[in-house]
Amino acid sequence: MKNPYEERDNESPAEVVWHHGGVTKADRAAIKQQTPRCLWLTGLSGSGKSTLANALEVALAESGHHTYLLDGDNVRHGLNKDLGMTDDDRTENIRRVGELSKLLVDAGLIVISAFISPFRSDRESARALFEPGEFIEVYVSASLETCEQRDPKGLYQKARQGLIKDFTGIDSPYEAPDAPEVTVDTGADDLDACVRKVLAMVCR
Ligand code: ADX
Repeated sequence: MKNPYEERDNESPAEVVWHHGGVTKADRAAIKQQTPRCLWLTGLSGSGKSTLANALEVALAESGHHTYLLDGDNVRHGLNKDLGMTDDDRTENIRRVGELSKLLVDAGLIVISAFISPFRSDRESARALFEPGEFIEVYVSASLETCEQRDPKGLYQKARQGLIKDFTGIDSPYEAPDAPEVTVDTGADDLDACVRKVLAMVCR
């Protein structure tokens, strides 16, 4: 089996040796009759990432695909519950979920990863973990005004009142993607249209 980490072996401790297994990603994908991918959804809080991610997973599952959904709020309840919202913690959050997404793609799944992932360099590091064409960056675009009006969890209001620090778009930056594979505008297009647009990329 090809070592998916071989290009980074110089960063691994010398005494840690990659274990070669007899079943490859291609074998697992063939059993599932699908092309494994990571659909990486990035956008502001309240932009509609979780709603779109859920609708995508339902549509993919209904058409017989094997999927897994990783969502920022949920992962921060478990695997990443030790992380906060400082720049460094967000970078570590995205590093871990990038690695996790890679493992799930290696398992043959279509992985939907929905995280604000505000820093371009962190998203590019995540992309670099994958083979060409495997990582599909989906920019879930909605203006700060739209997200703040929606404010589904009341967090923007708290951030404006100074009750939450480092809130993305308020006192913490969001760097929009330069060249995402897909952009959906959840302020202009309805959910079905956004789902169709993303699926058109996956099913090419
Ligand atoms: S990321 O920036 O590290 O990618 P992630 O997607 O995991 O963020 O988590 C974002 C979720 O955490 C938001 O949807 C929101 O519910 C919650 N949250 C709590 N504090 C903040 C904050 N300061 N900025 C943004 N989101 C926050």
